[in-house]
Amino acid sequence: MDKVKKAIIPAAGYGTRNLPITKVLPKEMFPINRKPAIQYIVEEAIEAGIEEILIIVSRNKNMILDYFDRSLELEAFLEKTNKLHLLKDEVITNSPIQYMRQSYAEGLGDAVYLGKQFVGNEPFAVLLPDDLFLCPKKGALAQLIEYYKTSSMIGIQRVEADLLKNYGVVKAEKVKECQFQISDIVEKPEVSPPSDLAVTGRYIFNPSIFSYLEKIEKGAGGELQLTDAIKASLGDEKCFGIKIEGDRYDIGKEEDYIKLINRLWKNNSLKSETGK
Ligand code: G1P
Repeated sequence: MDKVKKAIIPAAGYGTRNLPITKVLPKEMFPINRKPAIQYIVEEAIEAGIEEILIIVSRNKNMILDYFDRSLELEAFLEKTNKLHLLKDEVITNSPIQYMRQSYAEGLGDAVYLGKQFVGNEPFAVLLPDDLFLCPKKGALAQLIEYYKTSSMIGIQRVEADLLKNYGVVKAEKVKECQFQISDIVEKPEVSPPSDLAVTGRYIFNPSIFSYLEKIEKGAGGELQLTDAIKASLGDEKCFGIKIEGDRYDIGKEEDYIKLINRLWKNNSLKSETGK
């Protein structure tokens, strides 16, 4: 069993759900208690044992690169004023991040395909930065990695029937507590979803997924869908759904975004009150 050491974070979308602000502020940089959303994703990956991260960006996402880079001018200023501790966050400047630009937003399948060289011949994770998880024990990706042996893994959760049309939805049979074997997957089913188990933005793949990504054609929403490559692989390879234990927040949805900020803010103020 190969260790999962690499992760791709596709962050090249236009963020149309959140216009007009996403015209200038990438959704991945939405602030959540003084940190941008994407930092929580990077932290989750590193905590799960990921050693190399590839973020797929697009033209208007330079802010992400600036954020994870050092700012020597600011550091010099803070040093002079004895405030350097305010910037002391290892994840910001020491994360093993590389970047690649997707020149045209063709869809999630295309964005992941760009990571082919980066991945080489190893299993790898994909984390969609819209989906942030607060988990009681282990982070969402760490939960998937715990189950990973050799077959692909997809993080899934039950979703209310009227919302299933917004997700990839799997047809799956329970093999053990939290683990399901997937026999079909449909992207954003308008009618008759195969179950109420939705794909939640965390995946582990073997490099063989690239041979399926190479062949997919435009699917739901006129985009190259990762879901369609997974579907094509199901005839040849096993793929498991892992039910993620934890609360998921879609930061592109205002209601979730505000709930997440409130919850983290409450947790933090509780921590400072109890001194933990
Ligand atoms: C993507 C995936 C979908 C998945 C969802 C989870 O869709 O294509 O299968 O259920 O993320 O957030 P998107 O939300 O990017 O349209």
